[in-house]
Amino acid sequence: MISKQTIDKIFSTIRVEEIVGEYVQLKRAGSNYKGLSPFHDEKSPSFVVSPSKQIWKDFSTGKGGTAISFLMEIENFTYPEALRHAAKKYGIEIEEDQREFSEEAKNAQSEKDSLYKIHEIANDFFQNFLWEAEEGKSIGLAYFRERELKDDIIRKFQLGYSPEKKNAFTAYALDKGYNKEILEKSGLSIFPENTPSGVDRFRERVIFPIHSFSGRVLGFGARILKNNVKTAKYLNSPETEIYHKSNVLYGLNQGKQAISRKNVCLLVEGYMDVISLHMSGIENVVASSGTSLTTEQIKLIKRLTENVTILFDGDNAGIKASFRSIDMLLTEGMNIRVLLFPEGDDPDSFARKHPQDYVEKFIENEAMDFIDFKAEILLKEAGNDPIKKAEAIRNIVKSVGFVQNALKREVYLKEVSNKFGLSEQSLFNELDVQKQITQNQTQYVQQKENAPAKMEIVPLDEDKGDPFLYDVLFMESKLVDHMLMFGDVVLNRKDEKNGEYQITVIEEILHHFEEENYEFLVKGNEIIINQVKEGIENDELRSGSFFVSFMEEEITSKVVDALIPLDELENWSSRNIYPPNYGDKIAEQVEGDVLLHKYRYIDYLIKETGRELDEHRDNDEVKYFELLKKITLLKQVSMKLSDIIEYSPIKGIYGGSKK
Ligand code: UTP
Ligand code: MN
Repeated sequence: MISKQTIDKIFSTIRVEEIVGEYVQLKRAGSNYKGLSPFHDEKSPSFVVSPSKQIWKDFSTGKGGTAISFLMEIENFTYPEALRHAAKKYGIEIEEDQREFSEEAKNAQSEKDSLYKIHEIANDFFQNFLWEAEEGKSIGLAYFRERELKDDIIRKFQLGYSPEKKNAFTAYALDKGYNKEILEKSGLSIFPENTPSGVDRFRERVIFPIHSFSGRVLGFGARILKNNVKTAKYLNSPETEIYHKSNVLYGLNQGKQAISRKNVCLLVEGYMDVISLHMSGIENVVASSGTSLTTEQIKLIKRLTENVTILFDGDNAGIKASFRSIDMLLTEGMNIRVLLFPEGDDPDSFARKHPQDYVEKFIENEAMDFIDFKAEILLKEAGNDPIKKAEAIRNIVKSVGFVQNALKREVYLKEVSNKFGLSEQSLFNELDVQKQITQNQTQYVQQKENAPAKMEIVPLDEDKGDPFLYDVLFMESKLVDHMLMFGDVVLNRKDEKNGEYQITVIEEILHHFEEENYEFLVKGNEIIINQVKEGIENDELRSGSFFVSFMEEEITSKVVDALIPLDELENWSSRNIYPPNYGDKIAEQVEGDVLLHKYRYIDYLIKETGRELDEHRDNDEVKYFELLKKITLLKQVSMKLSDIIEYSPIKGIYGGSKK
């Protein structure tokens, strides 16, 4: 684990404009920089970097954050991966926090490190042998060339060759000072009792290194070259401390950027399929490489996209086994399409036969949704047998049942109903039956899921949502934004109780929320406020910059929105004042917005209480009069507030309108 001090050091050293600048061409615009979004094709720049606030904001996708979160987005790093990457760039030494690790855990960590290291050594060894040694060139390289792989693609995938000699690599590694134990643990060498010099696992094979998400070599796949030998075509690394095959996808490291840019991941079977597609310019592809797809692998894809297109050989025997993968993908909330290549072709041969355009169009046009795909396979099998046909439909409905989103599920059911001329009702019934079965099987208890959800979506369209509620949400967010933008600004206030006093914006707004006993309606705001409160208890003002590096995506993007408002895109040249728009009017602005929030909140309460009143009018007299009293009080407060707003000096800010 990276120590807290190192994280602080990283954040205080790195410059967002430098890190982003490696990926985006930035032009100065006032106090900011702007450029074309790297996450979205666009012609006019909507990507802003603020050196003073050390944040970025992409208005075309709504993403934004720190230099670290930028690296996470663009390289698809995890948080620690991004930190390590940045540290390396700035030459910051990473200090590991070892306190909470036991001696055993420390050893395990260093064992993992040596496993990574030995794989790196082996990877270099196999590649050098392919390119430099006579045997490598005449056998390995010749094989790749025969399969029409270009040199740059061989280098890109770091393909290699393992010599014929029994212990070539083992001897090399021992000579470099690596011990037998680690060589054996890595699966790269075997030390039989009577052979102290050891034996290489991979011999006379071409080598496909298997990389982690971020590009470390975890293991190898190795293909035999002779056709007539009775051993497995591919020999793969065994499971080790660093290689868990259910957790790895071949090609993910090389394809991750294309996957997230194209927002779809092609799923193929083998190493060569991935490589050939890359060679024809299609890079958004991964292979599960021999194992059937696992949930962990799906989660890896999901970091990049929710759309998967499965590519199958035309004569693939394992298609029905793939039905399980389809259901798993649906369960993880993925959208799936399936493509069958013409008989005799696999993605590898197809990609080498046709130009990129053609392959892309073919995938785009021929991929079916999973319903059509399953229908095609299952109905062909069923022929005219009505019982088998019913079975097939039941099988398809079962898959629909795995679709997590209710709306999508309904759309799919409609599709099934149209396709087979069955009533939707009967399909719904079938779905219910199936649900019952799975529920009984798994003893599903999801009490938590059933609890009422907190408001997630702020209705942006005033007409569609409840306008009273919208007003409250809007002002609530505005107040939180004020806290984030200039929370530490000190205001000079005066009132009858306290006389003249000073108070920060954060304290003033917080005080207001507490006074109202206010319950936050917009998701995320409560987290921010609780952090602010905790800060105050620790004598620390937590404002925008604190939350920017607060690694909760929802919060960060909210904060960045507040710190770089949309109007930063316009009026570039005049963007030298901070905070924007408000100038020295902060005191009035905050006072006015607090009042307005209060006023709108009370209006909302009046409306809600009115609704309750109607409900109890005829059935609960006590409650009815209680509510009546409440509403009268609320209305009095509302009147008073409306007077204050009308006659207060802040009126100017709101153009005199009461509401
Ligand atoms: P394929 O036999 O389709 O391999 O197996 P391929 O990648 O197309 O290779 P070429 O074209 O014959 O060179 C699909 C995948 O199944 C795994 C490998 O990951 C392979 O890429 N596999 C296959 C093994 O792990 N072991 C085997 O013996 C065979
Ligand atoms: Mn093949």
